[in-house]
Amino acid sequence: MYRKKYLLACISLLWAAQVPAQQVGAQVWQQYNCASCHGDDALSAQSPEYPVLAGQHADYLEQTLLAYQRGQKQEVGGANVRKNPVMGAMAANLSTVEIKQVSQWLASLPSPLSHSR
Ligand code: HEC
Repeated sequence: MYRKKYLLACISLLWAAQVPAQQVGAQVWQQYNCASCHGDDALSAQSPEYPVLAGQHADYLEQTLLAYQRGQKQEVGGANVRKNPVMGAMAANLSTVEIKQVSQWLASLPSPLSHSR
């Protein structure tokens, strides 16, 4: 019984390791309907107020999403806190892992922002 569970756990770990982080990031993007504002390609936003995300540095995107989460928790302002009612509400839904995954996927997308890399 325990052996079977152990085996299953090993198989699922192996499987998870083989799914590229970027692909998981695309699922996060779809799950939370981020495209409704930022566009399917994260490039053709619905409005000029919505920033281009495709090709942006992953660590930059990650930090912005964490900053929106802090803003949503009403943490005191500063460089690491962003207060925005729309993105605060969106970021609050994401786990730290999902933030990393979606940021990596966005950074991998073709974009004029990534031309120098
Ligand atoms: C309802 C529209 C809307 C939706 C849905 C939305 N965003 Fe945004 N997003 C915005 C707006 C507006 C801004 C700019 C906010 C500001 O001025 O700080 C923004 C900013 C961002 C930024 C900061 C980019 C930068 O260069 O500063 C990131 C990252 C981001 N969004 C990711 C996401 C992700 C990931 C999702 C899905 C979980 C998402 N957004 C869903 C409207 C939206």
